[in-house]
Amino acid sequence: MPTSPPGDSAASGPPSEAALDGGAGLFHALYTTRALRRFRPDPIPEDVLFQILDAAIRAPTGQNAQDWRFIIVTDPAVKQRMQDWALEGWDRYSRRYADDPAQIDALPRSQRLSLRSVEHLAHHLAEAPAVILVCGLHGRHSTPGGSSFPAVQNLLLAARALGVGGSIFNLPLRDPAALKSMLDIPENNDIVCVLPIGYPSDKIGPVRRKPVKKVVYREKFGQGWDYAAAQPDDGWGARWIPDDA
Ligand SMILES: Cc1cc2nc3c(=O)[nH]c(=O)nc-3n(C[C@H](O)[C@H](O)[C@H](O)COP(=O)(O)O)c2cc1C
Repeated sequence: MPTSPPGDSAASGPPSEAALDGGAGLFHALYTTRALRRFRPDPIPEDVLFQILDAAIRAPTGQNAQDWRFIIVTDPAVKQRMQDWALEGWDRYSRRYADDPAQIDALPRSQRLSLRSVEHLAHHLAEAPAVILVCGLHGRHSTPGGSSFPAVQNLLLAARALGVGGSIFNLPLRDPAALKSMLDIPENNDIVCVLPIGYPSDKIGPVRRKPVKKVVYREKFGQGWDYAAAQPDDGWGARWIPDDA
């Protein structure tokens, strides 16, 4: 792994110190923003919420339409109703393990932990300090979700920078029409996704992914990238989260 920052060479010209300082924080966030589904009860202050949403809407949309809408839900009754739907969804999903719940324990560690955290949130959604609903105009964009998910990821990264965690969590979308009606969401808007957020009680840690060499090709599908093949399977996380090294 190189010791100087990527791009810091005579050929490309060194980035300024200021850019590097900012970059370190950004890369740290990118490598440590994972799905967090267990929260402490502490409310999220208004200024923190504002900063998170103000960063979210810096994301791009097709034709710069900015036709996304976000609803911050903190009303306990609404959160409870969403939890009821989420539990229905979870019960339906977990039926596959009904005959032998020990099957869950036999799953690979990361899958098991992730499933357990989904189960936890399905039972505790109403306790999440805030649930953000992301809405988009029905049929407006040719790539469904494409004009919403950049903002979702911005939101999660901005939240991470402020010590707030979350995850997309669509189990409450059992009856979108009923949820839309509860929240006065107009007919022409879809709920794109549900994002419970809060100060996490789960440990924040590195995001584990398949190595670049497995998912990135050169020139043609399936054609290996030699440079990536020579990099560690864990990627370059260690340079941004040295404590994890
Ligand atoms: C389009 C999309 C839909 C998702 N839906 C759900 C969901 O319904 N419930 C859930 O618990 N997580 C959901 N997730 C979160 C993923 O499960 C999670 O990001 C993935 O497992 C990686 O987790 P990690 O970042 O902690 O490694 C969704 C993520 C995306 C991008």
